[in-house]
Amino acid sequence: MNDDDLKRQAAEAALEYVESGTVIGVGTGSTADRFIDALARIKSKIDGAVASSESSAERLRSHGIPVLDLNDVGDLPLYVDGTDEATRHLQLIKGGGGALTREKIVAGASRKFVCIAHEAKLVDVLGDFPLPVEVIPMARSFVARQLVKRGGWPVLREGFVTDNGNVILDVRGLKILEPARLEADLNDIPGVVTNGIFALRPADVLILGTPDGVRTLT
Ligand code: A5P
Repeated sequence: MNDDDLKRQAAEAALEYVESGTVIGVGTGSTADRFIDALARIKSKIDGAVASSESSAERLRSHGIPVLDLNDVGDLPLYVDGTDEATRHLQLIKGGGGALTREKIVAGASRKFVCIAHEAKLVDVLGDFPLPVEVIPMARSFVARQLVKRGGWPVLREGFVTDNGNVILDVRGLKILEPARLEADLNDIPGVVTNGIFALRPADVLILGTPDGVRTLT
Protein backbone atom coordinates (compact mmCIF):
# COMPACT_ATOMS: atom_id res chain seq x y z
CA MET A 1 0.00 0.00 0.00
CA ASN A 2 1.36 3.44 -0.86
CA ASP A 3 0.83 6.69 1.07
CA ASP A 4 -2.14 7.60 -1.13
CA ASP A 5 -3.93 4.35 -0.23
CA LEU A 6 -3.26 4.98 3.47
CA LYS A 7 -4.58 8.55 3.23
CA ARG A 8 -7.71 7.29 1.49
CA GLN A 9 -8.20 4.62 4.15
CA ALA A 10 -8.05 7.23 6.94
CA ALA A 11 -10.36 9.57 5.00
CA GLU A 12 -12.96 6.85 4.45
CA ALA A 13 -12.89 5.96 8.15
CA ALA A 14 -13.73 9.57 9.06
CA LEU A 15 -17.09 9.28 7.26
CA GLU A 16 -18.52 7.47 10.27
CA TYR A 17 -18.29 10.72 12.29
CA VAL A 18 -20.56 12.59 9.85
CA GLU A 19 -24.07 13.02 11.23
CA SER A 20 -27.18 13.50 9.10
CA GLY A 21 -28.53 17.00 8.60
CA THR A 22 -25.37 18.80 9.76
CA VAL A 23 -22.89 21.27 8.30
CA ILE A 24 -19.34 20.00 8.72
CA GLY A 25 -15.94 21.65 8.63
CA VAL A 26 -13.53 20.44 5.99
CA GLY A 27 -9.77 20.97 5.94
CA THR A 28 -7.09 21.37 3.31
CA GLY A 29 -4.44 19.21 1.68
CA SER A 30 -4.15 15.90 -0.12
CA THR A 31 -5.66 13.84 2.73
CA ALA A 32 -8.54 16.31 3.19
CA ASP A 33 -9.07 16.06 -0.59
CA ARG A 34 -9.54 12.28 -0.20
CA PHE A 35 -12.12 13.02 2.52
CA ILE A 36 -13.97 15.49 0.26
CA ASP A 37 -14.09 12.85 -2.48
CA ALA A 38 -15.47 10.30 -0.02
CA LEU A 39 -17.95 12.83 1.36
CA ALA A 40 -19.35 13.32 -2.13
CA ARG A 41 -20.82 9.81 -1.96
CA ILE A 42 -22.93 10.73 1.08
CA LYS A 43 -23.54 14.39 0.20
CA SER A 44 -27.33 14.06 0.41
CA LYS A 45 -26.86 13.27 4.11
CA ILE A 46 -25.36 16.70 4.97
CA ASP A 47 -26.58 20.28 4.61
CA GLY A 48 -23.19 21.52 3.44
CA ALA A 49 -19.63 22.26 4.48
CA VAL A 50 -17.46 25.09 5.73
CA ALA A 51 -14.07 25.01 3.99
CA SER A 52 -10.71 25.98 5.48
CA SER A 53 -9.37 27.21 2.11
CA GLU A 54 -10.41 28.42 -1.31
CA SER A 55 -9.01 25.24 -2.87
CA SER A 56 -11.11 22.96 -0.65
CA ALA A 57 -14.17 25.15 -1.29
CA GLU A 58 -13.64 24.69 -5.01
CA ARG A 59 -13.28 20.91 -4.65
CA LEU A 60 -16.43 20.70 -2.51
CA ARG A 61 -18.40 22.72 -5.07
CA SER A 62 -17.10 20.56 -7.92
CA HIS A 63 -18.75 17.61 -6.16
CA GLY A 64 -22.01 19.55 -5.74
CA ILE A 65 -21.56 19.99 -1.97
CA PRO A 66 -22.85 23.41 -0.82
CA VAL A 67 -20.11 25.61 0.72
CA LEU A 68 -21.30 27.82 3.56
CA ASP A 69 -19.80 30.82 5.35
CA LEU A 70 -18.78 30.11 8.94
CA ASN A 71 -20.45 33.38 9.98
CA ASP A 72 -23.79 32.05 8.78
CA VAL A 73 -23.74 28.70 10.55
CA GLY A 74 -22.30 29.13 14.06
CA ASP A 75 -20.51 26.26 15.75
CA LEU A 76 -20.00 23.03 13.84
CA PRO A 77 -20.35 19.46 15.15
CA LEU A 78 -17.33 18.16 13.23
CA TYR A 79 -14.10 19.24 11.56
CA VAL A 80 -12.07 16.79 9.48
CA ASP A 81 -8.56 17.67 8.32
CA GLY A 82 -5.10 16.26 7.66
CA THR A 83 -1.85 17.14 9.40
CA ASP A 84 1.88 17.45 8.80
CA GLU A 85 2.87 15.91 12.14
CA ALA A 86 0.89 14.46 15.06
CA THR A 87 1.83 13.19 18.52
CA ARG A 88 0.11 10.55 20.61
CA HIS A 89 -1.35 13.43 22.60
CA LEU A 90 -3.05 14.59 19.37
CA GLN A 91 -1.01 17.79 19.21
CA LEU A 92 -0.25 18.75 15.64
CA ILE A 93 1.85 20.80 13.26
CA LYS A 94 -0.26 21.98 10.34
CA GLY A 95 0.07 24.52 7.57
CA GLY A 96 2.26 22.76 5.03
CA GLY A 97 -0.39 23.82 2.53
CA GLY A 98 -0.50 27.35 3.97
CA ALA A 99 -4.10 27.19 5.20
CA LEU A 100 -3.25 27.10 8.91
CA THR A 101 -5.18 30.20 10.01
CA ARG A 102 -8.51 29.20 8.51
CA GLU A 103 -7.88 25.64 9.66
CA LYS A 104 -7.39 26.85 13.21
CA ILE A 105 -10.52 28.98 13.03
CA VAL A 106 -12.72 26.14 11.75
CA ALA A 107 -11.16 23.67 14.23
CA GLY A 108 -11.83 26.17 17.02
CA ALA A 109 -15.46 26.51 15.97
CA SER A 110 -15.98 22.73 15.92
CA ARG A 111 -17.02 20.47 18.77
CA LYS A 112 -15.05 17.49 17.41
CA PHE A 113 -11.82 17.63 15.40
CA VAL A 114 -11.08 14.38 13.58
CA CYS A 115 -7.57 14.39 12.15
CA ILE A 116 -6.78 11.98 9.31
CA ALA A 117 -3.31 10.98 8.13
CA HIS A 118 -1.09 8.16 7.01
CA GLU A 119 0.93 6.61 9.81
CA ALA A 120 4.22 8.31 8.85
CA LYS A 121 2.80 11.56 10.28
CA LEU A 122 2.93 10.18 13.84
CA VAL A 123 6.00 11.51 15.70
CA ASP A 124 7.30 11.45 19.27
CA VAL A 125 8.14 15.17 19.35
CA LEU A 126 6.85 17.90 17.02
CA GLY A 127 9.34 19.96 15.07
CA ASP A 128 11.11 17.99 12.36
CA PHE A 129 8.55 19.47 9.98
CA PRO A 130 9.33 23.21 9.58
CA LEU A 131 6.77 25.15 11.59
CA PRO A 132 4.62 27.41 9.35
CA VAL A 133 3.92 30.86 10.77
CA GLU A 134 1.47 33.17 8.94
CA VAL A 135 2.64 36.78 9.13
CA ILE A 136 1.27 40.19 8.11
CA PRO A 137 3.59 41.22 5.22
CA MET A 138 4.92 44.45 6.82
CA ALA A 139 5.97 42.49 9.93
CA ARG A 140 7.94 39.83 8.05
CA SER A 141 11.47 40.93 9.03
CA PHE A 142 10.52 41.87 12.59
CA VAL A 143 8.81 38.53 13.19
CA ALA A 144 11.74 36.67 11.60
CA ARG A 145 14.11 38.35 14.09
CA GLN A 146 11.90 37.34 17.03
CA LEU A 147 11.86 33.75 15.77
CA VAL A 148 15.67 33.72 15.53
CA LYS A 149 15.83 34.93 19.16
CA ARG A 150 13.81 31.84 20.08
CA GLY A 151 16.31 29.55 18.33
CA GLY A 152 14.43 29.16 15.04
CA TRP A 153 15.61 29.48 11.44
CA PRO A 154 12.77 31.18 9.55
CA VAL A 155 12.64 30.99 5.77
CA LEU A 156 10.13 32.95 3.69
CA ARG A 157 7.91 30.65 1.62
CA GLU A 158 8.81 32.12 -1.77
CA GLY A 159 6.03 33.09 -4.18
CA PHE A 160 3.28 32.12 -1.74
CA VAL A 161 0.44 34.31 -0.47
CA THR A 162 -2.17 32.89 1.89
CA ASP A 163 -5.93 33.08 1.26
CA ASN A 164 -5.82 35.97 3.77
CA GLY A 165 -3.22 37.95 1.79
CA ASN A 166 -0.31 37.21 4.14
CA VAL A 167 3.08 35.51 3.90
CA ILE A 168 4.39 32.31 5.53
CA LEU A 169 7.66 31.87 7.39
CA ASP A 170 8.68 28.20 7.65
CA VAL A 171 10.72 27.81 10.81
CA ARG A 172 13.29 25.08 11.33
CA GLY A 173 15.21 24.28 14.48
CA LEU A 174 12.56 24.99 17.13
CA LYS A 175 12.45 22.48 19.96
CA ILE A 176 8.74 21.87 20.47
CA LEU A 177 8.82 20.12 23.83
CA GLU A 178 5.95 22.21 25.21
CA PRO A 179 3.66 22.71 22.23
CA ALA A 180 0.88 24.66 23.95
CA ARG A 181 3.35 27.06 25.53
CA LEU A 182 5.23 27.70 22.28
CA GLU A 183 1.96 28.08 20.36
CA ALA A 184 0.83 30.84 22.72
CA ASP A 185 4.26 32.47 22.83
CA LEU A 186 4.61 32.70 19.04
CA ASN A 187 1.06 33.97 18.65
CA ASP A 188 1.97 36.84 20.99
CA ILE A 189 4.57 38.26 18.58
CA PRO A 190 3.01 41.34 16.94
CA GLY A 191 2.46 40.64 13.26
CA VAL A 192 1.94 36.89 13.68
CA VAL A 193 -1.54 35.93 12.53
CA THR A 194 -1.13 32.40 13.82
CA ASN A 195 1.35 29.54 13.87
CA GLY A 196 0.91 25.93 12.81
CA ILE A 197 1.04 24.33 16.27
CA PHE A 198 -2.37 22.91 17.17
CA ALA A 199 -1.97 22.20 20.89
CA LEU A 200 -4.24 24.70 22.64
CA ARG A 201 -6.98 23.12 20.55
CA PRO A 202 -5.58 19.68 19.64
CA ALA A 203 -7.41 17.04 17.63
CA ASP A 204 -10.00 14.94 19.48
CA VAL A 205 -9.50 11.87 17.33
CA LEU A 206 -6.53 10.85 15.18
CA ILE A 207 -7.20 8.29 12.46
CA LEU A 208 -4.03 6.81 10.98
CA GLY A 209 -3.99 4.75 7.80
CA THR A 210 -1.63 1.76 8.19
CA PRO A 211 -0.97 -1.34 6.06
CA ASP A 212 -2.85 -3.31 8.76
CA GLY A 213 -5.93 -1.09 8.64
CA VAL A 214 -6.83 2.13 10.42
CA ARG A 215 -5.53 2.87 13.87
CA THR A 216 -7.60 5.34 15.93
CA LEU A 217 -6.15 7.38 18.79
CA THR A 218 -8.29 9.45 21.12
C1 A5P B 1 -2.75 22.64 5.00
O1 A5P B 1 -2.42 23.93 5.32
C2 A5P B 1 -2.17 21.70 5.99
O2 A5P B 1 -2.39 21.98 7.32
C3 A5P B 1 -2.55 20.27 5.68
O3 A5P B 1 -3.62 19.83 6.46
C4 A5P B 1 -1.38 19.45 5.97
O4 A5P B 1 -0.29 20.05 5.30
C5 A5P B 1 -1.54 18.01 5.51
O5 A5P B 1 -1.48 17.93 4.14
P1 A5P B 1 -1.46 16.54 3.40
O6 A5P B 1 -2.73 15.84 3.74
O7 A5P B 1 -1.36 16.91 1.94
O8 A5P B 1 -0.26 15.79 3.87
